[in-house]
Amino acid sequence: MSSILILNGPNLNLLGTREPAVYGLTTLDDVRALCEDTGRQLGLKVDFRQSNHEGVLIDWIHDAGAAHRAGTLLGVVFNAGAYTHTSVALHDAIKGAGVPLVELHISNVHAREPFRHHSYLSPAAVGIVAGFGIDGYVLAMQGLARRASGA
Ligand code: DQA
Repeated sequence: MSSILILNGPNLNLLGTREPAVYGLTTLDDVRALCEDTGRQLGLKVDFRQSNHEGVLIDWIHDAGAAHRAGTLLGVVFNAGAYTHTSVALHDAIKGAGVPLVELHISNVHAREPFRHHSYLSPAAVGIVAGFGIDGYVLAMQGLARRASGA
C-alpha cells in the first residue's frame, strides 16, 4: 500500500490549548486520528509526525524524497508552522528532495499579521491549503491522492 507523510512543525504539539480562538480546541492527537481515518478511506497508509526542530523536518523531507523515488510514498502534507515564513532551508529541502508536497495552514495566514503573508514553502509546493481549520488536512490528503491518480 502506498503512503502519505503528514508533517507538523513547531508549536503544533500545543494544538488544543494554543490560541484556541485561532486554532480551535482540537488536539494534535485528534488531527492524527482524522488523518488516519482519511487514509483508510483513500486506501493510503498514513505516517503522521511532529517536530519543533527545523533540521529534523529537513531530514524527514529528504527521506520522503527517497521514498517517493522508490514508489512507496505519494507525497507530503506539511504544516511547517512559523518556519513557513522564515525557512529558506525548508524551501531548499523540498526542492532538493523532489517530493510532491502540499503546504497546509489551519488558519488563513493571509487574513492575519503581515509577517505571515509570505511563505518560503509556496514556490516549492504543488498546492496550498489554508483557512479550513483541521479539515484542511483532509482536503490536502485528498488533493495529493487525486493528483497521484491523474484525476
Ligand atoms: C500555521 C500558521 C503559521 O503562521 C503559524 O506560525 C503556525 C500555524 C497554521 O496552521 O495556521 O504555527 O501554520
